[in-house]
Amino acid sequence: MTIQVKGARLLRSRIISTGSYVPERVITNFDLEKMVDTSDEWITERTGIKERRIADETQAASDLAYEAAKVALKNADLKIEDIDLIIVATVTGDMPFPSTACILQDKLGAKKAVAFDINAACSGFLYSLYVADSLIKSKMHKRVLIVGTEVLSKITDWDDRTTCVLFGDGAGAAIIEPTEEDRGIISMHINSDGSLWELLHMPGGGSRNPVSKDSLKKRLHYIKMKGNETFKVAVRTLEDLVVRTLEENKLEPSQLSLLIPHQANLRIIQATADRLGIPIDKVIVNLDRYGNTSAASIPIALDEAVRTGRIRDGDYILLEAFGGGLTWASALIKW
Ligand code: UT7
Repeated sequence: MTIQVKGARLLRSRIISTGSYVPERVITNFDLEKMVDTSDEWITERTGIKERRIADETQAASDLAYEAAKVALKNADLKIEDIDLIIVATVTGDMPFPSTACILQDKLGAKKAVAFDINAACSGFLYSLYVADSLIKSKMHKRVLIVGTEVLSKITDWDDRTTCVLFGDGAGAAIIEPTEEDRGIISMHINSDGSLWELLHMPGGGSRNPVSKDSLKKRLHYIKMKGNETFKVAVRTLEDLVVRTLEENKLEPSQLSLLIPHQANLRIIQATADRLGIPIDKVIVNLDRYGNTSAASIPIALDEAVRTGRIRDGDYILLEAFGGGLTWASALIKW
């Protein structure tokens, strides 16, 4: 609940621009049929994915982030000196340390900013938005660049058909600043349940299972997911989350102009839309082209929605995500 002093203006934060980048290389379901025992029919029916973008050998998370950030800065007509905080959401950072945000800061020449990463898997972009929103409202920062960037292809086991068909690479960025207008981020919900971390994780490469000949042999440096269990929790949790977000803001689903969900599985997206009773043409779906890009999926979808004129000033839009941790989050925005 927001307490407003009579006569005082309510300070909110608002997304003033977006940008995104996806690598050029495309891998289709038909390409995957030649790599593992799968079919275009299975992947399409079970996930809705038709193709995904894959980074080249030289590209790391900060390279994709850099491209997306440049577009967001250009769209906002800002210089890098105007940014005082950079937050990067990723699970495929360039290296364990330093943070990918610091590497991005260097690439951008962002001398006046402070930079750090957030790891909340597929919910990472919304967690970053939550932090940016809080730091702007508390007047700790004035203009924040947040980027979700992933090169999941480099932690994907290309011999495991249960995961390799799902993921893709890409990055999306947004710039957030304060506003006293009747618009911006209306409310955010972020949640986690660490008791379910094993459903989706990468066991190797950290201090639990440092890289060794043995860890490589056991393929611990790749994504492990209990897909079906994750699916069930995701559907249930996201349905509750979107309903709660609207109820707490006294908004009817019919007042929503657009739902921008995390792009993991078309069946999960459909279930959430059905629960709200909103038609699929009010939902941004791009996983057919990009697959699941984890922290990058929402900002890429948001940027596409902005670029294609699907969001107009004053529209209510709802962003929602679910991912490893487990984590889940939503953002209700008046554009
Ligand atoms: O982004 C963060 C959160 N992630 C998610 O929310 C993802 C959630 N999970 C999912 O999207 C789905 O669970 C998957 C798409 C990963 C899998 O779909 P499913 O309907 O849950 O399938 P399943 O795992 O229950 O597998 C069904 C069958 C199995 O065969 P049997 O045991 O029934 O004979 C699998 O071995 O499908 C088989 N299978 C495949 N067959 C062809 C699994 N992967 C493939 C494949 N091609 N790529």
